[in-house]
Amino acid sequence: MPTRAIITGASSGLGAEMARQFAAKGHDLGLTARRTDRLEQLREEILAAHPDRTILVRALDVTDNDDVFTATTELTDGLGGLDRFIVNAGLGKGAPIGTGRFDANRETAMTNFVAALAQMEAAMQVFREQKTGHLVVISSVSALRGMRRAMTTYAATKAGVAALAEGIRSEVMGRPELSIDVSTIYPGYIRSEMNEKVEQEQKMMVDTQTGVRAMVAAIEARKAKALVPPWPWVPIGEVIKHAPLSVVRRLT
Ligand SMILES: NC(=O)c1ccc[n+]([C@@H]2O[C@H](COP(=O)([O-])OP(=O)(O)OC[C@H]3O[C@@H](n4cnc5c(N)ncnc54)[C@H](OP(=O)(O)O)[C@@H]3O)[C@@H](O)[C@H]2O)c1
Repeated sequence: MPTRAIITGASSGLGAEMARQFAAKGHDLGLTARRTDRLEQLREEILAAHPDRTILVRALDVTDNDDVFTATTELTDGLGGLDRFIVNAGLGKGAPIGTGRFDANRETAMTNFVAALAQMEAAMQVFREQKTGHLVVISSVSALRGMRRAMTTYAATKAGVAALAEGIRSEVMGRPELSIDVSTIYPGYIRSEMNEKVEQEQKMMVDTQTGVRAMVAAIEARKAKALVPPWPWVPIGEVIKHAPLSVVRRLT
């Protein structure tokens, strides 16, 4: 039986590349995003390489929270069950707090936190019913501390989703009848549409395939928490976690 997985935000970047790599590993996939032309293209590309796979695509704006539940039900039925849900859709808009861009910060908060909560609720509803499943939450290394500039709200949302994931992990740990794993993935800099115009991070940026290979390996290992790629992000993560704020602020 192939692993059946839903990936949100699969129209570009890490989500699209996870779809390619998981399909190559034999996953059947339910892919969602707003840009369905991109999803259709990706579906064709994957099926050309792996004709035996089932690849379903579904338009979904994750900020339409009710539709998150409907899409999860539809895709789970279409795939014949659900083994993994990857909460990946995300947005990097933002500005320093108090500079008149509440609109941008709010949009990031609603997409990266409230809509991620909706996805976790929808996935966990299926997993609790089945008594089995793997919830994967894409956080960020920026979640490890408060960040300045355009990153303030983004980093807070990523800390928020990591805390939600840990809370769910703690919840299911005490329920031996449930065989549910929860993985929080903290990517460092991986090339995608979100950061294609970001120049100053070039040195630590890896290409999409390399970065996503590390993400897929951590997900397949069902790690509770993983900073990816491990080098240089595991040691950098330790510095970010423990260094004084005056040092951390210079990293961003
Ligand atoms: N790349 C990195 O270095 C990095 C580092 C840390 C964490 N991350 C996280 O990795 C995840 C993927 O980001 P990425 O780097 O691959 O960026 P990306 O190329 O910009 O992809 C973002 C994806 O999210 C989807 N999305 C955004 N808003 C949405 C909405 N309202 N409804 C549905 N889908 C929505 C987009 O699809 P549509 O626009 O078609 O809807 C797109 O597929 C994000 O959660 C990001 O925060 C990335």
